[in-house]
Amino acid sequence: MEEYIASGAPLVIERAEGARLHDADGRVFLDGNASWWVAALGHRHPRLLRALARQAETLGHTSLAGVTHAPAALLARDLCAVAPLGLTRVLFSDDGSTAVEAALKIAVQFFGQNGRPEKRRFVALDGAFHGDTAGAVSLGGVEVFRRHFGALLFDVVRVASPAPADEEDGEAWRRAFAAVEELLATSAHEIAAVVVEPIVQGAAGMRAYAPRYLAALRALTARLDVLLIADEVFTGYGRTGPMWGCDHADVAPDLLCTAKGFSGGLLPMAATLASERLFDGFRGGRERALLHGHSFTGNPLGAAVAREVLAIYRDEDVLGQVARKAPRLAATVAELRGRPGVLRVRQIGMIAAVDLLPSSTRGGYLGEAGWRVYEQGLSRGALLRPLGDTAYLTPPLTISDGDLDQLCGIFVDSVRAAT
Ligand SMILES: Cc1ncc(COP(=O)(O)O)c(C=O)c1O
Repeated sequence: MEEYIASGAPLVIERAEGARLHDADGRVFLDGNASWWVAALGHRHPRLLRALARQAETLGHTSLAGVTHAPAALLARDLCAVAPLGLTRVLFSDDGSTAVEAALKIAVQFFGQNGRPEKRRFVALDGAFHGDTAGAVSLGGVEVFRRHFGALLFDVVRVASPAPADEEDGEAWRRAFAAVEELLATSAHEIAAVVVEPIVQGAAGMRAYAPRYLAALRALTARLDVLLIADEVFTGYGRTGPMWGCDHADVAPDLLCTAKGFSGGLLPMAATLASERLFDGFRGGRERALLHGHSFTGNPLGAAVAREVLAIYRDEDVLGQVARKAPRLAATVAELRGRPGVLRVRQIGMIAAVDLLPSSTRGGYLGEAGWRVYEQGLSRGALLRPLGDTAYLTPPLTISDGDLDQLCGIFVDSVRAAT
């Protein structure tokens, strides 16, 4: 806050359209991270605005407690139709963190009331990020996000990340898998679930890993009756190429969390998808119900918009657009590979990332190298908020070719100027 206050110049965004943000002084910035990864369809998509206005005319909100409504029911149906096979039930919530909290509670209660109460611990990856609420932070493996909150957090079994520290290390996933295999061989009886960000650990610095890890983990957890929770809050909706990160390995988790692009970046809305087996585990008397419901669960405005998002994905072939545009991002990081000050580069789907040489001992998320790129980006007309020493691009998936070219050019120039 000190630096921000001292700068005396808040960046005030007044309006947005497509991939462009307009500030109060008339400056225009390309949105390099799709506003924290939510604006997958860009800003103010006209169909989403119309869906919102239409819904607002009839029903803005009602609880989803003993009541239902068409927007939530139809969204659940449409979402399950595109979800990995076997995910047939949906619990709505407000954001990525609450989608994860709900998944944790479902997992624990499921085993608790179906004869396996000792299965109540979770396994999470080094470098994991699953949100900012207490349960999600407990899972988190980025130390700076946890360090002040030890008193609030529950104990999680931490295992190695399958993401290679060095991109040449093709065996990192095997070592990580061997470690989790060894752990579960002795502890599966007390583990409710393994929680992963499929294919890319976003907040850890866009660390991508081999789909084979996910495939092997799915087979292992299924065999040992440990649930697999896929946090697709960042990786879902085409960010890594296919609709879900899980699709890279052709796996279906037991629980899947989605948010961010799920509601087109327009409204806070999230969902936790579950298998029929889990749903059945909550049937019976009232005392077996999942007592978890947010005031705005299934909000009709969010639901109508989220349903329109899926229609746009179909009509505008958004995944096809990702396949066509991803090589532009690959070419962008290729331009920076091997440059002094650039340690590593990577690209997957609509994610491009560059790890920079740390300029101080404060590396990782508190590192400053990426912020030099950010300053350069601002002066050139792009918002390139970094993850510490990692500079990256995650633009709207529907960004126009012209804007993408311009954004990639600014990114390369900004990294060059900063290194
Ligand atoms: C993988 C993942 N899970 C959960 C979250 C938390 O989502 P939210 O900020 O909407 O609570 C994030 C946020 O960046 C995320 O990247």
